[in-house]
Amino acid sequence: MTLDDLNVRFARPDVLQFEPGEGGLIRAVIRHPAATGEMYLHGGHVSAWQPRGQRPVLWMSQRSQFEPGKPIRGGVPLCFPWFGAKPDDPTAPSHGLARLVAWEVDSATADDRGVTLQMSTRVAPHYHVTHAVTFAAELSMTLTVENRGEASTRFEAAQHSYFAVGDIHRALVTGLEQAPFLDQLAGRQRIPATGEPITFSSETDRIYLHDGPAVIEDGAWGRAIRVEKAHSRATVVWNPWIAKAARMPDFGDDEWPGMLCVETANVGERAVTVAPGERWWMRTGVSVATR
Ligand code: BG6
Repeated sequence: MTLDDLNVRFARPDVLQFEPGEGGLIRAVIRHPAATGEMYLHGGHVSAWQPRGQRPVLWMSQRSQFEPGKPIRGGVPLCFPWFGAKPDDPTAPSHGLARLVAWEVDSATADDRGVTLQMSTRVAPHYHVTHAVTFAAELSMTLTVENRGEASTRFEAAQHSYFAVGDIHRALVTGLEQAPFLDQLAGRQRIPATGEPITFSSETDRIYLHDGPAVIEDGAWGRAIRVEKAHSRATVVWNPWIAKAARMPDFGDDEWPGMLCVETANVGERAVTVAPGERWWMRTGVSVATR
């Protein structure tokens, strides 16, 4: 569908338009009294959400690429149908195929609360994947996977949310104190629960075996970002710190102190199995409070 077609079919006066975004990729732009936001058709990717009266909540790298076949760095990449390296094919792209391809817009609605957009794509080719996102005082993102094949399938999935923080050294994450984690920096070694909030003083890359909410306490900006979730049994917490940031071509060398990923996921031992003809979904809800 062309930009004009999208605007004719789905734009909503004053609150939702489709525009050429970075790299010429088409994005939906939401300008609602409750919140502003952006969602790219590339990857069904939410790249911005800012509730009224707050700073931007999602972090985007200034060095992100915006190209077909490449992932967008920041916002909410969707990892599917695998997370990280593909176990049986190390040459396959990191975090799966869903974030690399163009999605279609299925529907758009608007009301006094906010704007809801749904996009979908086919992956691999038996998966039909949709991402339904409500941009309002709360950000709500529901990823649905339908298995249209003839056999049962097993996959991993993540809403890989990048959050903006004032200073990672003064940020902490609560809610995961009682959860053991797999340390990605030590071959996914299982580490027992620490009983403490998470603080950051070096590269951190952990898969928490955890199905509840988490809160980012941002001391520098005096706000708390609450990340709620449903049907997700793992939470990934990631900051690349200095050396890894420097190695990533689409991540500015000095950007790492301003971001933190808290990802709604089902990965590793918590991958999902879906029977033919069945659907599975997972949801992330984000809200912000001033401290
Ligand atoms: C995180 C992983 O979720 O994503 C990290 O835990 C990884 O290991 C990071 O480095 C970024 O991945 P990518 O493929 O977007 O560079």
